[in-house]
Amino acid sequence: MTAITLNDGTSIPQFGFGTWQIPDAQATDRVAEALDIGYRHVDTAQMYGNEDGVGRAIAASGISRDELYVTTKLNNNNHAPDRAIASIDDSLNRLGLDYVDLFLIHWPLPTIDIDYVDTWHAMEEIRGSGKARSIGVSNFPAECLRRVIAGGSRVPVVNQIEVHPYFAQDALRAVNAGLGIATQAWSPLAQGQVFDDPVLAAIAGRLGAPVSAVVLAWHLQRGDIVFPKASNAERIRENFSAREVRLSPTDVAAIDALDAGRRIGPDPETFAWVPAEEV
Ligand SMILES: NC(=O)c1ccc[n+]([C@@H]2O[C@H](COP(=O)([O-])OP(=O)(O)OC[C@H]3O[C@@H](n4cnc5c(N)ncnc54)[C@H](OP(=O)(O)O)[C@@H]3O)[C@@H](O)[C@H]2O)c1
Repeated sequence: MTAITLNDGTSIPQFGFGTWQIPDAQATDRVAEALDIGYRHVDTAQMYGNEDGVGRAIAASGISRDELYVTTKLNNNNHAPDRAIASIDDSLNRLGLDYVDLFLIHWPLPTIDIDYVDTWHAMEEIRGSGKARSIGVSNFPAECLRRVIAGGSRVPVVNQIEVHPYFAQDALRAVNAGLGIATQAWSPLAQGQVFDDPVLAAIAGRLGAPVSAVVLAWHLQRGDIVFPKASNAERIRENFSAREVRLSPTDVAAIDALDAGRRIGPDPETFAWVPAEEV
């Protein structure tokens, strides 16, 4: 499986399985299906409420730990450094793991009264403890990245951001690359919106490949890390087939031209949702 080398010398499988909106009760079966199909990289988060289910699938898989890549993310109510440090133990307990491969600050929350640079210092401490092999960020605009790098002692290994054909994010991807940070593309299928697109359908029809695989191949050829989510084994398998699809420069240009600067998710500059409950 193609792997991307990160700025701390570790490597991450470029293709993974996303688990947002998979309830805990279903996460075990979905992740088990993904692992059975050949996925070796799973993306979860404290916010998703399914680390237990993900962990059960990992435990039952029998796959050796060093062949798996597991990411989780710090919830928005855990930005205070002491809470961040305690929360990784909770995540590891739920996942049934001794360490995660990657731990991310899920959202920068630049308008709340806890400075994400202080949170980053806690992330660095967590990495030092060995409970996360690598640390990174998610949804960080360029200015937030620069503040974290100026105020911290480590550069995030990844910035996980919304990227899909309608929101190609080339400016922020270039900033990431310039700082040595790999881009992870969340909602790579635009949460299902790509399936109604005539341009994508035409490319898929000509190549004899599913629309999902065409879009995911576009991400892979751009060098981004992806982890589409799907709710049944057929779709999980279909998405995995993207690794065999090769797009011509003409097809890539046609997909590039779909960029409309249109977000699906919240704007990280203003997003400030903090869950009240303990997670
Ligand atoms: N860091 C962040 O803030 C953030 C935010 C959002 C997402 N993420 C991560 O990124 C992952 C992927 O993003 P996402 O879950 O938002 O959306 P996505 O992967 O772009 O799209 C998932 C949607 O596409 C459908 N789908 C997937 N494969 C399909 C196929 N082969 N044929 C037809 N429909 C298909 C799914 O339907 P069914 O489920 O019904 O099969 C679901 O509705 C998440 O799971 C999560 O791990 C991170």
